Amino acid sequence: MKRVLSGVQPTSEIHLGNYIGAIRRFVDFQDEMDCFFCIVDLHSVTVPQDPKDLHENTLKLAALYMAVGLDPKKVTLFVQSHVPAHTELAWLLQCNTYIGELNRMTQFKDKSQGKETVTTGLYTYPVLMAADILLYDTNYVPVGEDQKQHLELCRDIATRFNNKYGNTFVIPEPLIAKFGARIMSLDDPTSKMSKSNENKHSKINLLDSPSKIKKSIMKAVTDSESQVRYDLENKPGVSNLITIYNILSGISIENIEKKYEGMGYGAFKKDLIDVVVSTLEPIQQKYYDIVESGEVEKVLKEGAEKAREASNKVLNEVKKKMGFVSF
Ligand code: TYM
Repeated sequence: MKRVLSGVQPTSEIHLGNYIGAIRRFVDFQDEMDCFFCIVDLHSVTVPQDPKDLHENTLKLAALYMAVGLDPKKVTLFVQSHVPAHTELAWLLQCNTYIGELNRMTQFKDKSQGKETVTTGLYTYPVLMAADILLYDTNYVPVGEDQKQHLELCRDIATRFNNKYGNTFVIPEPLIAKFGARIMSLDDPTSKMSKSNENKHSKINLLDSPSKIKKSIMKAVTDSESQVRYDLENKPGVSNLITIYNILSGISIENIEKKYEGMGYGAFKKDLIDVVVSTLEPIQQKYYDIVESGEVEKVLKEGAEKAREASNKVLNEVKKKMGFVSF
């Protein structure tokens, strides 16, 4: 059985970009592949975190994973910091990664821009991500487009290690959707929807209320025309809303364009609000049921055990090949 692994940071709320670009797609793999889905809390602390928020957001993300439809009987759900092999392999890989490679990472440049101080953890972040993936003999990694460069680095590190020490790592393939891999900000359709944007109307979070969703969509930047037409270059705002509409409703772009011909943006936005609310309502309902049931911690405990067991094989092989003594 092929193996799938992906991860999401438990940083603030999970938004529609995370859902469409990644989490929603995780569910498609659970019946056909051996899936590991991780809450990457160690990645979160590369930027300052309030300890109470980190704790809450970790458990919240686990409940959300289940609320979108991931079944802990079929997939391994776990918290990255519960499996020490991730940090151990990350160190070993750091000693096989070059500063020049990390200097090229655009996400590091974006996240560090304008900051007075930046942690070394933020700099070596992509190597920890490579460790997450390579530890599990992962074949496929479903992610949004912003992770493409990190995946390329992961493949380079793995290939170099294999060439130097003999075949050790499976070379993973990124699975980036052709459509919806980069959901844009509602307040600025030229930048991606992002957890770090402080304008709450720039994004829709999975646990947002219908009235908040309505406000954010009504405020979403469009253009001075009134035609509902998919044209990324000239109409990025409307095209982003059409993408969200298309993915959540299953109605083709062509049919969306036809449906709103001559009707302006008001009717289109009103229906988009319904599409988003009716997608998120059952997820929210399930989320609150899961939180109330108290099952999250048990799922994470079992997940950690399975992940610890699965990750030992690769870690031991790497250490043996690098020459570490073991008894
Ligand atoms: P994170 O937590 O920033 O995002 C989680 C997932 O959501 C995708 N995503 C988006 N997709 C479409 N449109 C957007 N606007 C958007 N914003 C985010 C991301 O591409 C990602 O798939 N480094 C990773 C977490 C990670 C990981 C891993 C992923 C750590 N280890 C191993 C895969 C495998 C991150 O920060 O994701």
